[in-house]
Amino acid sequence: MILVINGSPNKDSKTLSVAKEILKYSNEEIKYIDTYKLNVDSCDDCKYCHSKIGCVKRDDMDGIYDLLYKAHSLVISSPVYFGAMSDQTMKIINRFQRFFEQKFSLKNTNIPRFNNLIIVSTQGGINTAMFDGVKQTYKILNLLFNPDYSEIITIPSTDLEHPLDNVKVKKQIQKIQKKMITFQ
Ligand SMILES: Cc1cc2nc3c(=O)[nH]c(=O)nc-3n(C[C@H](O)[C@H](O)[C@H](O)COP(=O)(O)O)c2cc1C
Repeated sequence: MILVINGSPNKDSKTLSVAKEILKYSNEEIKYIDTYKLNVDSCDDCKYCHSKIGCVKRDDMDGIYDLLYKAHSLVISSPVYFGAMSDQTMKIINRFQRFFEQKFSLKNTNIPRFNNLIIVSTQGGINTAMFDGVKQTYKILNLLFNPDYSEIITIPSTDLEHPLDNVKVKKQIQKIQKKMITFQ
């Protein structure tokens, strides 16, 4: 199963349109999580996971944790908000902290494993330095999950042009489609 975390509140999310295009030819089950429709509380650094496996909070993140263990591929689709992934996306990623502690502090490696980790991000403006935060988060997610294949696609200037109208973006999408590990 491929798990797609949709971090945009927009019904016609430009970012998600790119994620969907990447997965267009996949015959595998795809589950979409709309982060803006969920009740996920912020990680408040209670440090429970420093000594025990798991998270004390009980909310919609429980279902996401289950899906993360079931998924063989994770796609995170988020617009840039003030130089980072959107707030609802970051809420979910911050709740991955339990896996970070499990792996690196408790030395228990039974955390979700992904064949593919794909990050898709768009921003309205032309200044690509605004993707720096998203790229840093991508690096940390790689360190945490150590996927077999990972890729990040960052697309600026959505105020000027829809990402799927851009030839360079289409080529990047094709490259990812070819490289993604599939199971059919
Ligand atoms: C709260 C907020 C913050 C934003 N911050 C930035 C930003 O820092 N840089 C930028 O270029 N665009 C910024 N944008 C524009 C979005 O990144 C852009 O419209 C994005 O492509 C929307 O993607 P979506 O259609 O998938 O929601 C921001 C938009 C919102 C609503």
